[in-house]
Amino acid sequence: MRGILLLNYIAVVALASDPESHSLAIGQDVSQLTNRALPNAPDGYAPVEVNCPSPRPSVRSAANLSSSEHDWLKLRQKATQRAMKDFFGQVHIGDFDVVKYLDSLSDKPSSLPNVGIAVSGGGYRALMNGAGALKAFDSRTGNSTASGHLGGLLQSATYLTGLSGGGWLLGSLYMNNFTSVSSLQTETLGDPWQFSNSILKGPDDGGSLLASAVKYYGQIQEAVSEKGNAGFPVTFTDIWGRMLSYQLIHASEGVINHTWSSIAATENFKRAEMPLPILVADGRNPGEHVVGGNATVYEFNPWEFGSFDPTIFGFAPLEYLGSKFEKGVVPSNAKCIRGYDSAGFVMGTSSSLFNQFLLRINSTDLGETAKNIIRDVLGNFDEEAVDIANYTNPFYHASTGSYLTKSPYLAIVDGGEDLQNIPLHPLIQPERKVDVIFAVDSSADTNNWPDGTSLVATYERSLEGRINNGTGFPSIPDRNTFLNLGLNNHPTFFGCNTSNLTGTQSNSPLVVYIPNSPYVTHSNVSTFTMSYNSTERDAIILNGYNVATMGNGSRDSEWSTCVGCAVLSRSLGRTNTTVPTACTRCFERYCWNGTVDARTPATYDPKLVLAEVSVTSKASLVVASLGWGFMALMFTFLVV
Ligand SMILES: *[C@@H]1O[C@H](CO)[C@@H](O)[C@H](O)[C@H]1NC(C)=O
Ligand SMILES: *[C@@H]1O[C@H](CO)[C@@H](O)[C@H](O)[C@H]1NC(C)=O
Ligand SMILES: *[C@@H]1O[C@H](CO)[C@@H](O)[C@H](O)[C@H]1NC(C)=O
Ligand SMILES: *[C@@H]1O[C@H](CO)[C@@H](O)[C@H](O)[C@H]1NC(C)=O
Ligand SMILES: *[C@@H]1O[C@H](CO)[C@@H](O)[C@H](O)[C@H]1NC(C)=O
Ligand SMILES: *[C@@H]1O[C@H](CO)[C@@H](O)[C@H](O)[C@H]1NC(C)=O
Ligand SMILES: *[C@@H]1O[C@H](CO)[C@@H](O)[C@H](O)[C@H]1NC(C)=O
Ligand SMILES: *[C@@H]1O[C@H](CO)[C@@H](O)[C@H](O)[C@H]1NC(C)=O
Ligand SMILES: *[C@@H]1O[C@H](CO)[C@@H](O)[C@H](O)[C@H]1NC(C)=O
Ligand SMILES: *[C@@H]1O[C@H](CO)[C@@H](O)[C@H](O)[C@H]1NC(C)=O
Ligand SMILES: *[C@@H]1O[C@H](CO)[C@@H](O)[C@H](O)[C@H]1NC(C)=O
Ligand SMILES: *[C@@H]1O[C@H](CO)[C@@H](O)[C@H](O)[C@H]1NC(C)=O
Repeated sequence: MRGILLLNYIAVVALASDPESHSLAIGQDVSQLTNRALPNAPDGYAPVEVNCPSPRPSVRSAANLSSSEHDWLKLRQKATQRAMKDFFGQVHIGDFDVVKYLDSLSDKPSSLPNVGIAVSGGGYRALMNGAGALKAFDSRTGNSTASGHLGGLLQSATYLTGLSGGGWLLGSLYMNNFTSVSSLQTETLGDPWQFSNSILKGPDDGGSLLASAVKYYGQIQEAVSEKGNAGFPVTFTDIWGRMLSYQLIHASEGVINHTWSSIAATENFKRAEMPLPILVADGRNPGEHVVGGNATVYEFNPWEFGSFDPTIFGFAPLEYLGSKFEKGVVPSNAKCIRGYDSAGFVMGTSSSLFNQFLLRINSTDLGETAKNIIRDVLGNFDEEAVDIANYTNPFYHASTGSYLTKSPYLAIVDGGEDLQNIPLHPLIQPERKVDVIFAVDSSADTNNWPDGTSLVATYERSLEGRINNGTGFPSIPDRNTFLNLGLNNHPTFFGCNTSNLTGTQSNSPLVVYIPNSPYVTHSNVSTFTMSYNSTERDAIILNGYNVATMGNGSRDSEWSTCVGCAVLSRSLGRTNTTVPTACTRCFERYCWNGTVDARTPATYDPKLVLAEVSVTSKASLVVASLGWGFMALMFTFLVV
């Protein structure tokens, strides 16, 4: 049935597409392609059978880090030590000589600070606000190493995690050779990040809207049906992931051959010249529609897919995902599969809540012909399972894990569906020994601003003995306290005082919470606004830069010092070094001190901190009718 519909559809596309408009057809942009991660999928989007390498791909226990990560970290430690010395050349901690301190630890690398950065979900808002933060932390950004700025923190980080909209940001950067946010903001035809062209319409290829949309959907449908024809279940996530690849990686051909595991094969990654990127997604239990706080949390790192949670407690090699693993190994009578971990599919999985965008096709200004074609395509997919990615289960009958090993398929959903909308999970694994997490939160909790809900979810999960598996997290107050004490209106540190952290909490990193708040524009745009012109986009990115730097230090001239203190805090503890006075002052100012105020808060309506930048009017509302809150939509979905 599906096959016939697909054939029909492709015929329609062939008739409707305009041969004149193929100005940016596949393969023409070779010079730009070389700047990307490696296009190493064997056959585009379709996973294909290959001979298994020797030894055969196998699942390992999550008790340790992978040997790949272990080896890579040794190189990364040298790189972050150098980067931190640069960072502390510009960020001063009173008269404490940080460079000398870091030098003194050269032969004790485990004493060096170990920094993680986490970028939350929240659609385009999260992508743009997160981009502002990473731009601020990136020493390659012009002026970012001036006094009061934070350039170099990104280079000092060991790990960088993202989920959903934050995962789009990571995918854009890593699939484009770890380019900078600044360069993604400068665009020409064929470049990504042209958010004025709604992802439902596809990139502007210079031709007519109908022809380009039809070509766009034609290419997507062809790719996805090839995967289906190869015998793999496909869902809305496959279509969604292909769309993301056009908008976020490369507009003219959607980088069909790029896999997430190809990151590990690129030379500058092998030299550990960038943080380790990790995307997060959630598991949905068989037969359940609600993803609860004890859902399994999966990660995709460049080498592996898996989970530290007791429900899985294992990792499989990402490059061979899609293979029919059985009892932890690809059996000798089966071939291996490669090309399953398409970069777009991985990004789409982490953001599968946004598959729902596909159902909003009616509200675009596409012509009826194009809409009909698209409705035909979407009509082939099961709307009941709209937000699911359907993965071949590499942990099938594996000895690690529990009930999830009983099914040959895993249902995987958006990483924020368990309300842990900041991808902290990979960073609180005791094995990774992260000291400090810069947690950039663009959640839509209160009027599309964050209010700590995500930290509360991670804290509560860390108390749940059945699922926490040794992860430590500092105490977090309720969201009313966040609002009443303004903990969501400026950066706040959690877990400062290690003497307060006992039991599993003794593993807790320091969490530097960086909530989206208004500096130069009201960046609380709706999660479901899908289109932004470059003026609006750049204003929100600039706002995010100011959120991270507290207005380049104008809101607190000691903020960059305080960020430095957060980086050093755990390391100083390990080396019994007296905390510098400048840091004591910072901790008094930014650490949550245990005060709780759970009264019902007043309406949260924060004012701009700096002068407003003009975007002429508010966010472009091409789909204004979709401006429902995140929760409302989630609710709609959950009751399906
Ligand atoms: C990727 O970026 C690095 C650093 O900017 C550069 O040296 C390298 O040539 C780039 N790689 C490719 C394949 O363009
Ligand atoms: C993808 O890879 C296949 C097989 O190597 C190749 O035939 C095709 O041209 C590639 N496509 C693109 C867009 O690079
Ligand atoms: C984990 O790694 C350590 C050090 O390499 C080793 O001693 C230990 O046996 C490993 N544990 C497991 C379960 O593999
Ligand atoms: C850097 O700062 C100078 C002086 O404030 C300014 O003129 C210039 O435009 C800035 N450059 C960037 C890239 O922001
Ligand atoms: C995943 O695909 C398999 C095989 O088509 C199917 O049996 C299963 O129901 C699918 N799972 C979900 C959650 O859709
Ligand atoms: C999650 O918690 C609920 C309530 O305690 C329980 O019913 C459910 O089985 C748990 N799920 C998992 C995966 O542990
Ligand atoms: C984590 O879960 C696995 C699998 O249930 C178990 O073997 C392991 O001991 C747990 N680790 C901790 C620290 O609780
Ligand atoms: C979209 O439009 C078509 C044709 O007008 C209609 O059949 C369909 O129900 C609409 N879908 C939604 C979600 O409104
Ligand atoms: C730090 O001090 C504690 C007790 O005061 C001691 O046990 C530990 O060995 C010291 N560590 C270092 C690195 O000096
Ligand atoms: C703790 O913080 C609250 C407000 O955030 C403040 O009112 C209180 O004085 C502080 N307490 C101490 C002991 O510093
Ligand atoms: C730390 O412990 C002290 C003393 O028990 C307590 O007053 C304070 O509230 C705790 N702080 C936090 C952040 O939990
Ligand atoms: C961007 O959109 C706003 C409306 O939100 C509009 O006023 C402005 O002129 C647009 N800018 C450009 C460059 O199109």
